[in-house]
Amino acid sequence: MKTTKSFIRGTGAYLPSRVLSNEDLARMVDTSDEWIQERTGIRQRHIAADGELTSDLAVEAAKDALANAGISATDVDLIVLATTTPDQTFPATATAVQAKLGITTGAAFDVQAVCSGFLFAMATADSMLRQGLFKTALVIGAETFTRILDWSDRSTCVLFGDGSGAAVLQAAEGEDHEGVIAHHIRTDGTKSNLLYVDGGVSSTGTVGHVRMQGNQVFRHAVTNISSAIEHVLQQTGQTIEDVDWFVPHQANQRILNGVAKRLGLDESKVVSTVAMHGNTSAASIPLALHTAISDKRIKTGDLVLSEAMGGGFSWGASLFRL
Ligand code: ACO
Repeated sequence: MKTTKSFIRGTGAYLPSRVLSNEDLARMVDTSDEWIQERTGIRQRHIAADGELTSDLAVEAAKDALANAGISATDVDLIVLATTTPDQTFPATATAVQAKLGITTGAAFDVQAVCSGFLFAMATADSMLRQGLFKTALVIGAETFTRILDWSDRSTCVLFGDGSGAAVLQAAEGEDHEGVIAHHIRTDGTKSNLLYVDGGVSSTGTVGHVRMQGNQVFRHAVTNISSAIEHVLQQTGQTIEDVDWFVPHQANQRILNGVAKRLGLDESKVVSTVAMHGNTSAASIPLALHTAISDKRIKTGDLVLSEAMGGGFSWGASLFRL
């Protein structure tokens, strides 16, 4: 039976032009290209230019997604922007994106779930489209994450980069197995001390820097991500063999491999872009999705499984058909 569903009509991405290589980092802190590549798979990351804001990155990805979807900005009535690095404390960065795209109708707001942000934003937009509240949504993940890094802390500064990615979601009638199919999103606030920023508006009055117990995050990541994926598959009656492409949050090649191995996923189905831009937090899933759609690996009709885990802890998985 057909119901109102949301469909991904197009994707887009943007990476700032400045590139910081592992060799560049080795001149800044006590690290090496060999260590970074072996432990993370990362080769380089992009850094936003001075004065280039999260909303600027988001607008570039949004324009790309709208062009690929063949949809005009004025048709968009919902913007859900996932970010941990907003332009300002308020208003929401999504409203800056709305203004820069010349949109004066509908609603725009931010979602904060760190690296899981894009999946939380997609679940939010999908629910609102299915309820009939809006018709056409821009779901964006955008970060100037390098602005909250402590450049003297080698255990975190080598991992992250800046970037943005976007998807246009549109409401239409469809079968259960079409369009956006299922989500599973979860948080556990008792683990917030393992990955956080040591500042905030109401605590220190400062922005703060990323602090992380990397090995603890790694351990929880593989378990939580695998559990979220199992929930999504059980919910929909699909099996891991039905999945055409696995588009994970791009945190670390070893987490990608660990999850794929635990689930029995064929490595040839895993989309990995982490080497080229590091962990771009909320931007990483749409960046990877757009890469694999652009190079024609992911085709219309393919079943895509996505997952993420980040600060909070927050984590989740999504299943959708292109
Ligand atoms: N270069 C060289 N050595 C380093 C570096 C570096 N950049 N960073 C840490 N080390 C050293 C440590 O000091 C330690 O040295 P010691 O043994 O002398 O004490 C050694 O390397 C091992 O440190 P570990 O932290 O145990 O290294 P590990 O193998 O766990 O790798 C890493 C670290 C890459 C951070 C890993 O734990 C990881 O990827 N964790 C997951 C992080 C993540 O994906 N977070 C995602 C969410 S982020 C978000 O939501 C915003």
